[in-house]
Amino acid sequence: MSVSVIIPAAGKGERFGKKKQFLHYKNKSVLMYAISPFVFCDEINEVIIAVSKDDKNQVNDYLKVANFKKKVSIVEGGLLRQDSVKNAIKCSNKKNQIICIHDCARPFISKSLIQKAIKKCITSDAVVVAVPSTDTLKETKDLKIKKTIDRDKIWKAQTPQVFKRSIIENVLFDLKYENFFYTDESSLVEQAGYDVSIVEGSPLNIKITTKDDWLLAKAIFKEIYND
Ligand code: C5P
Repeated sequence: MSVSVIIPAAGKGERFGKKKQFLHYKNKSVLMYAISPFVFCDEINEVIIAVSKDDKNQVNDYLKVANFKKKVSIVEGGLLRQDSVKNAIKCSNKKNQIICIHDCARPFISKSLIQKAIKKCITSDAVVVAVPSTDTLKETKDLKIKKTIDRDKIWKAQTPQVFKRSIIENVLFDLKYENFFYTDESSLVEQAGYDVSIVEGSPLNIKITTKDDWLLAKAIFKEIYND
């Protein structure tokens, strides 16, 4: 089994105020922390990063410094995350039967969790790494609570998300879904009626979206790298 990894990294970081994938901890970008564990998985034989045109040179420079032994390519991203993912899938090696997608702003993913998710995808249509909700969730309208959702059934989706190539290609490029907007690829795969399994992730596998997330991320970096 061989796997292509897609890293959408063409976001503008509107909620953060700048591109969080290029924030640095100790001279290394969040993007490179997010990519490295994939490069060191034997099951993975290509990594494709989708970046905006303006960032291509910068990411190329990062890759030169990292000097990975594995092929890491850059493709141009699109207007939406889903366009960036589609561009990268089009450029991927069709011989790889599994596609794994990971947000560039999740720098704390571990090699063991990646491998667990890939292994699970051998017997599933698709796999989402997720964590059980520890908060009680409220459905609201105009800042009034309409109902409380049964927490035991709620999981928070993270990435990586792993798919059989034939399934994700069928769904993403189906004209029926062309005008759908989705924040992760598994939503569309679920909608199309496929089985999407969960692999339990880590609460530390956070996505850096806001400045508060960056405060938390710096604390996690410090703990992991023993500073
Ligand atoms: O905006 P959000 O945090 O959901 O973005 C998730 C991921 O999608 C990020 O890794 C971001 O860089 C990427 N993205 C992209 N192309 C876009 C928009 C977002 O690759 N046009």
